[in-house]
Amino acid sequence: MRIFVAKNYHDMSLEAAKVVADEIAQKPGIVLGLATGETPLAMYRELIRWHREEGLDFSQVITFNLDEYIGLPPENINSYRYYMQHNFFRHINIKLKNTHLPNAMAVDVDEECREYERQIAGVGGIDLQVLGLGQNGHIGFNEPGVDFALSTHLVHLAAATIASNARFFAAESEVPRLAISLGIKSIMQAKKILLLASGSSKARAVYELVHGAVSNNTPATILKLHQDVQLVLDEPAAMHISRA
Ligand code: F6R
Repeated sequence: MRIFVAKNYHDMSLEAAKVVADEIAQKPGIVLGLATGETPLAMYRELIRWHREEGLDFSQVITFNLDEYIGLPPENINSYRYYMQHNFFRHINIKLKNTHLPNAMAVDVDEECREYERQIAGVGGIDLQVLGLGQNGHIGFNEPGVDFALSTHLVHLAAATIASNARFFAAESEVPRLAISLGIKSIMQAKKILLLASGSSKARAVYELVHGAVSNNTPATILKLHQDVQLVLDEPAAMHISRA
């Protein structure tokens, strides 16, 4: 696992954007796995800037997002489709048909999960998976206790995740309880993984990821078994590992 510790959130985002842009330069038709949440926002802004100012080309890029809340239609401002359109896709020259998120409105959720996996396999798998990190060590919506053998599946969100994500909603009661998420098995099949973590609230999970044993109590620890993982952290997120 390679670890890059940046001074602050801005520098962390710049480094992450560089990793993504370099991969696109090497493979213009790259398949990117993408995350939502607060952490990658400035990375997306940086990639948009490079698209505008330096011609970074997304015309052949294919994306698959990690997760989506069940029951939130694309036009709902808290849906991850809305987030991706608003914060990234509509500002770059990516083709809408090349952008994928689980269909939160699917009647048959299990079939939707299988279909999502088929679509990923159909384009040859994910080349670079971008991940954030939950305070409880989740990746995607793979919560503590998750079965590492699962591929894309229906998730009952952990109470801690609902409480944490309530900051984006008018009230905690409005946070959906269910989501579709890429499973650990699917994440581990990505050829490369880039995990971002910012802020002291992530420091404990980062410590477990770097120094702890592989355990589904902290799902991110599975990444220790992947052969090509890069962590891009800011100093507050790295504070326990740098002291260790
Ligand atoms: C988002 C996702 C989540 C977040 C994690 C961190 O698509 O899968 O695992 O990456 O909850 O969220 P932030 O970045 O908001 O702290």
